[in-house]
Amino acid sequence: LDNGLAPTPPMGYNTWNQFYCNNGGGLTATALKKVADDIVNRGLKDVGYEYVVLDDCFQDGRDENGVMKVKADRFPDGIKPVADYIHSKGLKFGIYSVPGDKTCANLFNNPKYSPNIGSYGHERIDAETFASWGVDYLKYDWCYPDGSLGLQKVPAFSKMRDELARVDRDIVYAISEYGDSQPWTWGKDVANLWRTTGDIAANWNSVTSIINRQVDLYPHSGPGHWNDPDMLQFGNGSLTYTQNKSHLAMWSMLAAPLFLGTDISRLSNDLVGLLTNPEMVAIDQDALGKQARRISESNGLQVWTRPLANGDTAVALFNSTGADATISTSLSALGVDGVHVARDVWAKKNVFNTANSISATVPAYDTIVYRLAAGSDSSLPGIVGASGTGR
Ligand code: GLA
Repeated sequence: LDNGLAPTPPMGYNTWNQFYCNNGGGLTATALKKVADDIVNRGLKDVGYEYVVLDDCFQDGRDENGVMKVKADRFPDGIKPVADYIHSKGLKFGIYSVPGDKTCANLFNNPKYSPNIGSYGHERIDAETFASWGVDYLKYDWCYPDGSLGLQKVPAFSKMRDELARVDRDIVYAISEYGDSQPWTWGKDVANLWRTTGDIAANWNSVTSIINRQVDLYPHSGPGHWNDPDMLQFGNGSLTYTQNKSHLAMWSMLAAPLFLGTDISRLSNDLVGLLTNPEMVAIDQDALGKQARRISESNGLQVWTRPLANGDTAVALFNSTGADATISTSLSALGVDGVHVARDVWAKKNVFNTANSISATVPAYDTIVYRLAAGSDSSLPGIVGASGTGR
């Protein structure tokens, strides 16, 4: 969306994958403030994790003027003080709504239906309310399977886009209809980002199946308009350290929004180390904004590449399988000419010079990411693939 926002993919935290609909009483003003503190304390703010997004289940119907109310037991002083606190930490605040009159949680999780919880018929007043609360990011979620209001996706999402444009506040606009109607073909005019799939789960099968569904989407993403393969499941479910590493590597290759959804204070130092690797984050946030394309796939062994703003090329050797494997490619396959030095992005060091070939043993479930720069590093032995040298 051409609103000057989200020149690089948004980064931050969203409550959904940690709290869902307040299971155990977790989704509160206090918890959100703690998230902001944790983002700062764990060094995540320093590398760009910025938005704290309150997802579904804070709403409590509407007052007599149609203004959205929030659950008083969770947000006793309303939303604005929470947003103010988040802003005081140098972070930004996001919120959630839907184009219909019920949210996903109303429909599927919550027996106590609260009427007019969604923004249907209240788009203008909601945009104004959000702006007055200090909202910087809106996740606007279709969740409207019953079709009872006769809404159509593009007009319904465009309506809120236009209302957000009216208010005197910059609000990044993130939409979701789970990729059902190829939002990458129309999303650029409507929103800053759009979900490309259903909800991610915290297991390897979900992560890999989402990656495999991004293959054809690279032409549609760019500054201000991003494909969103859904949030990071770091720290959740059955994902191992190595699987989380691949999750972040591939989301970075895909120029994906990076949203955590876990108790940040309880993330291991190792996982925080991955999330704050400045060279990996720099690939995700590269100013050119070109999403990776896949150039090979063989039984779960994949090579993905994306060009970077300074002329470098990122290449990922992604092993989705449970066995160590050799993955190979070449500069010519990547469309890159001349000798290049390969820098291991996870290790943050130059590892080989190459005239063409690129090959590595990639551990089970792991992803090696190289950043290729023209020229060679003379401290490294020889040039792979050049006559008389190499490994
Ligand atoms: C949908 C979305 C999730 C979350 C829930 C909230 O499932 O895809 O990300 O926002 O709704 O109910």
